[in-house]
Amino acid sequence: MIAKHIEKLAPSGIREFFDLVLGMPDVVSLGVGEPDFISPWRVREKAITALEEGLTSYTSNQGLFVLRQDIANHYKKKYALRYDPKKEIVITSGVSEAFDLAIRAISDPKDKIIVVSPHYVAYPALPEANGNKVLFLTTTQEENFKINPKVLSELVKKRPKAIILNYPCNPTGVSYCRGELKEIWKILSREEIVVISDEVYDELNYEGEHIPFSCLDKKAKERTILLNGFSKGYAMTGFRSGYACGNSKIISAITKIHAYSALCAPIVSQIASSEALRAQKEVAQMRVEYKRRRDFIVRELNNLGLDTVMPQGAFYCFPSLKKFKIKALDFAKKLLFEEKVAVVPGTAFGKQYDYNIRISYANTQENLKEAIIRIERVLSKLQ
Ligand SMILES: Cc1ncc(COP(=O)(O)O)c(C=O)c1O
Repeated sequence: MIAKHIEKLAPSGIREFFDLVLGMPDVVSLGVGEPDFISPWRVREKAITALEEGLTSYTSNQGLFVLRQDIANHYKKKYALRYDPKKEIVITSGVSEAFDLAIRAISDPKDKIIVVSPHYVAYPALPEANGNKVLFLTTTQEENFKINPKVLSELVKKRPKAIILNYPCNPTGVSYCRGELKEIWKILSREEIVVISDEVYDELNYEGEHIPFSCLDKKAKERTILLNGFSKGYAMTGFRSGYACGNSKIISAITKIHAYSALCAPIVSQIASSEALRAQKEVAQMRVEYKRRRDFIVRELNNLGLDTVMPQGAFYCFPSLKKFKIKALDFAKKLLFEEKVAVVPGTAFGKQYDYNIRISYANTQENLKEAIIRIERVLSKLQ
């Protein structure tokens, strides 16, 4: 009964591994890509009040105008980037939905889509489910997991319809400075390629400044679908709130599908999201804490011989097991069964990353310290 192309779709490598974790008590989980903080109180309070006031209806398909206005103001203030809340922003159920809609709005079956690896699990999956052909652009640890312009130039010759960018990146935490982004844009701007830029971790940037891809120039803004949301920086995963910004034609196409599939994002989540944009102090506090954890975990992993590129943002790092000559899945299973620490094997983010593991440091300092002790014990038995 299942469509052939859906049957062929690989299940998420993260879920597959976490089915093993389910039911195991006392596991220190460095696996899930979710903040360990709860949403700021003012956000929760706003949601409670909205319910008390009986705000339980649909909203317009595009989302509450006040939220779109707040997002437009946020981007104007933070990045000097202007989006018209009337025509250039649509509210979705998380970046996940925005990404799905963006792919469907801009591509026909068989269109080629460039996915930069290692990649977030949905990037190849949803285009494949849409009948697209995915072209992988592999980055390497030797090059700090950054896009190599020569490799990009070669792929662009294959006439892709779009490229998916994600920075700070899940699973490496790697980001790009303006100069690097300009070099990428110089290559992309020669062709008619749509840039889908998932910047859901923009608030969790610990070095330098985050540069939205749409900021590069007028043409880049015209060709970019900027995706963002409230799950990560605002610790609001359960609210399922995100948005897409872009030129009015694309946003109108995205809204058309959204109106038939989801109709609108939940009203309470939209009201809470407006409040979240006013919770910058709370966001800054979480950012400081993540940075402290990042500094600790990356230093300790490197000391243990697990070579780790310093992540600029998000809450992940992607250490290598090469020195220990053990594959990621074997190591992850050992770590889980012998020491009850859960990490995700790198192959969940691209099949060639079989010597890397993804560690999420969205966890308490005590748990991170404990995890390092247990990782060291497993490593010492390997030598
Ligand atoms: C890069 C990236 N994009 C999108 C998402 C999903 O975000 P949302 O909760 O807004 O759907 C995640 C979640 O892990 C992610 O890492």
